[in-house]
Amino acid sequence: MEARFYTDCMDAQAREREVLREITTHSAEETIAFGRTLAELLTPPKLVLLRGDLGAGKTTLVKGIAAAFAAAAEEDVTSPTFTLVHEYRGPRANLYHIDLYRIDTPRQLETLGLDDLRSDNSILLIEWGEKFPRLVRERDVEIALERAGEYERRIEVRG
Ligand SMILES: Nc1ncnc2c1ncn2[C@@H]1O[C@H](COP(=O)(O)OP(=O)(O)OP(=O)(O)O)[C@@H](O)[C@H]1O
Ligand SMILES: [Mg+2]
Repeated sequence: MEARFYTDCMDAQAREREVLREITTHSAEETIAFGRTLAELLTPPKLVLLRGDLGAGKTTLVKGIAAAFAAAAEEDVTSPTFTLVHEYRGPRANLYHIDLYRIDTPRQLETLGLDDLRSDNSILLIEWGEKFPRLVRERDVEIALERAGEYERRIEVRG
């Protein structure tokens, strides 16, 4: 009971985390450019949750982040929809782009072995991670993307 209460408090604290950056972009290119600016914030090690509906721009944002780390060219960053984890190694960090859309149970999550990917120089960028309370608790940064129009996306970074 006490442990449960403690967990709830932690979640409440997490929700109230400080807004580090916010922007409304008007094209995929602008979202990529914004992603590039986030590299300075995302020094490893980090666990980052990318929240937002299908097509909100989560993968698009990762293109900018991976490019800024010189870990991948924008066009080489594609959705890890089927492979679930894409790895991009850069000189300053190893990026893991993870898509949990098709993962439904904590047991399935365990078999992915995300803990093995965590190290001093790793950054985990996780789409649909908010489905799992453990990841919500362990996240360092949360980036929420919201569709505000056909090309408008409201992006909020909390840490
Ligand atoms: N301002 C914008 N920022 C980002 N993407 C935009 C913007 N305007 C239009 N788009 C388009 O929206 C789509 C975003 O797709 P993306 O794969 O990045 O979404 P996602 O959030 O990763 O979705 P999924 O949950 O399906 O993986 C792309 O087709 C992109 O061109
Ligand atoms: Mg995606």
